[in-house]
Amino acid sequence: PSPLLMDPFARAISYLRVSVTDRCDFRCTYCMAEHMTFLPRAELLTLEELDRLCSAFVRMGVQKLRVTGGEPLVRRGIMTFFRAMSRHLGTGALKELTLTTNGSQLARHADEVAACGVRRVNVSLDTLDAERFAKVTRWGRLPQVLDGLRAARAAGLRVKINTVALRGFNEDELFRLVDWCGAEGHDLTFIEVMPMGEMGEDTRLDQYWPLTELRTRLAERFSLIELSERTGGPARYVRLAETGQKIGFITPLTHNFCESCNRVRLTCTGELFMCLGQEDRADLRAPLRRTSEDGPLEQAIREAIARKPKGHDFDYSRKTVAGQMSRHMSHTGG
Ligand code: GTP
Ligand code: 5AD
Ligand code: SF4
Repeated sequence: PSPLLMDPFARAISYLRVSVTDRCDFRCTYCMAEHMTFLPRAELLTLEELDRLCSAFVRMGVQKLRVTGGEPLVRRGIMTFFRAMSRHLGTGALKELTLTTNGSQLARHADEVAACGVRRVNVSLDTLDAERFAKVTRWGRLPQVLDGLRAARAAGLRVKINTVALRGFNEDELFRLVDWCGAEGHDLTFIEVMPMGEMGEDTRLDQYWPLTELRTRLAERFSLIELSERTGGPARYVRLAETGQKIGFITPLTHNFCESCNRVRLTCTGELFMCLGQEDRADLRAPLRRTSEDGPLEQAIREAIARKPKGHDFDYSRKTVAGQMSRHMSHTGG
């Protein structure tokens, strides 16, 4: 077996997030601008190139691969890529193949996704109110996502709902979301909004709802049992004693989890971001296209990991926003 990828802070890199497209059929306000210029198709890695690149990572010790976007299911032919990755599940080199999606195309794809060995999917959903949903996604239709969720369940996929905690937007839906997820059998994870993307006047500070606060409210109604189990992602989990549900918290602002970071992010053009919260990136497309030999590619990957930074610089604590970045979250798939 080839040596594990190790970064300068002795963190083993075992989790690759791969954004297969920058496009999305929604425009969530905290993620994209209303009018986006998308990459021309010629800039994208082909599905074969994505396969070759991800396979190199798997050879080098990546055990968890998450397909993201934009919205991954709007990329044409994406199931070909899933099928290609599922062969690494077959050999046991890859332990988990999974997907983060807005759910809009799940009704169409859930069966095939499950057939490729995907066991669970993360679906973004910030509100259960159709009008609010249309607002935050700018034009998304909630019923379409709910159909997708039903299809996922029918296909035997476990579902984790990702909800960005937004002050003044979904604060009043906390218990409704918890109850609904409980009834539907979905896990639920809340995420602190990060200062990324074109913001104009809006710095996201006014939308920031610290999860410490959300958790306190949750504890007023439920007994929270701290869970030590992790999924390899950044979320920390509790179980609600009364219902048995699992609730996750992703807290880049109130509780930085960089010290246990195990992941890097590949974009659809073959750039590798070593940290979500930093601009530094490595071009893997050049070594990928220069030769069909994998040696130079593996070398480029090693060099990239060797400059993985310690962590992000996001900070709202001084009532101003630090570490802000104009790069859209959709570029790296969260
Ligand atoms: P599992 O734990 O496998 O369910 O997945 P995950 O939480 O790693 O993946 P998911 O796509 O659900 O990620 C949810 C969100 O958490 C992302 O979209 C980001 O907003 C945030 N997130 C994930 N990884 C990081 C990270 O390394 N740093 C920061 N700051 N945020 C992250
Ligand atoms: N802050 C926090 N989470 C974000 N996401 C997108 N933009 C942001 C942001 N600015 C989340 C989406 C989705 C995941 C891929 O990233 O809601 O769940
Ligand atoms: Fe890892 Fe960067 Fe996220 Fe921190 S901000 S957990 S270092 S990707």
